[in-house]
Amino acid sequence: MNPIRIGVIGTGSISESHLNAYSLNPNARIAAICDINEERAGQVAKKYGAEKTYADYRALLSDPDIDAVSVCTWNNTHAPISIAALEAGKHVLVEKPLARTVEEALRIEEAVRASGKLLQVGFVRRYDPNVQMLRQFADNGEFGELYYAKASTIRRLGNPGGWFADVERSGGGPLIDIGVHVIDLCWYLMGRPKVKTISANTYRKLGNRSNVQHLSFYKAADYDASKNTVEDLANAIIRFENGASLMVDVSYSLHAKQDEGSVKLYGDKGGFEIDPTISIVTEKHNTILNIQPQTDSSAGFTGDPAFQNEINHFIDCIVKGDKQISPVEDGVEMMKILCGIYESAAKGEEIRL
Ligand SMILES: NC(=O)c1ccc[n+]([C@@H]2O[C@H](COP(=O)([O-])OP(=O)(O)OC[C@H]3O[C@@H](n4cnc5c(N)ncnc54)[C@H](O)[C@@H]3O)[C@@H](O)[C@H]2O)c1
Repeated sequence: MNPIRIGVIGTGSISESHLNAYSLNPNARIAAICDINEERAGQVAKKYGAEKTYADYRALLSDPDIDAVSVCTWNNTHAPISIAALEAGKHVLVEKPLARTVEEALRIEEAVRASGKLLQVGFVRRYDPNVQMLRQFADNGEFGELYYAKASTIRRLGNPGGWFADVERSGGGPLIDIGVHVIDLCWYLMGRPKVKTISANTYRKLGNRSNVQHLSFYKAADYDASKNTVEDLANAIIRFENGASLMVDVSYSLHAKQDEGSVKLYGDKGGFEIDPTISIVTEKHNTILNIQPQTDSSAGFTGDPAFQNEINHFIDCIVKGDKQISPVEDGVEMMKILCGIYESAAKGEEIRL
């Protein structure tokens, strides 16, 4: 079999995870690299042995020697690049979030239908072996009905600035950037229930905390302390049509003692935690049991096997027609939830989807 010829569009921080994983997949070949920063595109092409370099994604997409692309660019470009790629007959793996708005997401979904090509949304945490294991437990009824979930990703000092802090390019702040991961995890593991109502708040109180001294944090390449148009904190309660509920809070800036991540789901037969580390809670013979599954990565999410699994799955879907784990429909549904949170917060009232 000829390997799937891959074009990677966007060569910033997350592209490394895609490129490393493609380079380790025997059915994939990195054929072309594109970035508006041509110098970086050239360096990356050299490092990964890609023959072609482009500064304009349209030129890459018109190349008949490319079968599929990874879209690793700013959120505002996900829709135009994904749609153009599908129309050019390429399969697409697009980073999360699928887009900035529900309208953009629906246009992408339409392009998937019209093209008959695959589009995978980069919900990488679904591909974590621990999550797949817990999904198996949930599918086999071990937890009964999962009726309550709680997710939290708190950064006390973690607004990366640059495009992340520019609402035009990002679509929003911590909610759309890091909240998307934990909301999606809960929603996926709860069995993708239909959302009924959302009540949410967003706050802009501390800004990017560029005044803070003696503590360093990740900054985007185009960091500018004077520019920040996104929320510091978002919280929400999401009610589903089946009666289940999800509570979430997520921040870039907060007077919190430390950074915290927690993802916990509760059912009527048992519960489980994913962050900070995995564990299962159940009841047997009138006794509560805390169970510690023994897995390769039981110490928490690191990203490594998950990115490799995500890329392998993308290639397997193309080559073998495997059933998709994170199809476009889920990306659209997630945009409805994220945008619903922003809408409820802006209106100051509960909204019905
Ligand atoms: N799955 C994850 O865990 C994860 C983690 C980080 C980022 N992401 C997502 O990946 C995407 C990129 O994030 P990042 O942290 O790598 O950002 P980054 O700023 O490090 O890199 C983005 C790159 O895209 C390039 N770019 C922008 N517009 C372009 C265009 N029209 N054509 C070609 N290149 C273009 C920029 O020049 C830059 O090199 C975002 O959507 C982000 O949400 C996902």
